[in-house]
Amino acid sequence: MRISEKPLSARLKALGVELHAGVSLSEKTSLGIGGATDELVLRRFDTIPEVMRLLADEKIPHRFLGGGTNVLIDDGELPWVVLHLPTSQPGMRVEGNAAYVDAAADLGGMVTFCAKRDLGGMEGLIGVPGSVGGALRMNAGAYGTQIGSYVREVELYRAATGAIETVRGNDIRFDYRHTSFAPEDVMLRVKLELPSKPFKEILAGIRVCNEKRRASQPLNQKSAGCIFKNPPGGSAGRMIDELGLKGHRSGDAMVSDRHANFFINAGNASCSDMLRLIDDVRERVRARYGMELENEVILWKN
Ligand code: EPU
Repeated sequence: MRISEKPLSARLKALGVELHAGVSLSEKTSLGIGGATDELVLRRFDTIPEVMRLLADEKIPHRFLGGGTNVLIDDGELPWVVLHLPTSQPGMRVEGNAAYVDAAADLGGMVTFCAKRDLGGMEGLIGVPGSVGGALRMNAGAYGTQIGSYVREVELYRAATGAIETVRGNDIRFDYRHTSFAPEDVMLRVKLELPSKPFKEILAGIRVCNEKRRASQPLNQKSAGCIFKNPPGGSAGRMIDELGLKGHRSGDAMVSDRHANFFINAGNASCSDMLRLIDDVRERVRARYGMELENEVILWKN
């Protein structure tokens, strides 16, 4: 959706919004898939409610993009503008056992920042690509750690009230790759409470997780991590592997030959290639195991 030529764009600029016309979202996602639209960078948190009201009044559909590492975006001209928080120099500070971090910060960067200040617990999250905000929204987890366990407060733009609010960790539900945040809520900042641990010990834990990840996941290829959630008590990756589907393709979308629950963009995959592959694999798993796999990746398609 293009709004850069509309009078609205001047009003947005006055609210501290930076407008980038015609951005290709394939450059903003780890899958390298996604069509084009205008991008609005929200430089001032305090004006976000006003920006949202303006977009609603003008009936401009919008979606919020974080690190772009767990999303599959449609091809072609997109029917929404994309909102984004500025990623340069996001705020991070530590006070005792509390870490205060901007949602736009890189998740791994945050783990390292805290580790250097002798705050641990999040070693398992080190190799999970993406932003802190995205990790919060999805309750990202790996190797027995979930970010939700450490959350004490989240500052967010709450779509239901149209205001910026601070929510206590106890009032948020963090489940497996799911939280009680509404899809339109925008994460802004988080306060985490982390256990004290010597940097050297944290580093040793980080190394172990990095090794495991390197040994089992296709880290140098374009992917969105795991495509499906694991069904209760089961493993999507193992089932897909047992079906002999590693290397199985639809156009340039391919089941990784390293980890069967990672689907990679092996060239110029389109969103439709990827969706065809997802449906095909889901159908084969259903036929063989009688189980309906649920997407872990978030789909942006009208
Ligand atoms: N397996 C296979 N073949 C494969 C892949 C896995 O047989 O191609 C087997 C493994 O040998 C293992 C079991 O399946 O016995 C589980 O595999 P793995 O340990 O790789 O973990 P996973 O359940 O596939 C989950 C998360 C990952 C996270 C890892 C490590 C989900 C959907 N995936 O994967 O998270 O990195 O555990 O903790 O929960 C993500 O969220 O995008 C993601 C990649």
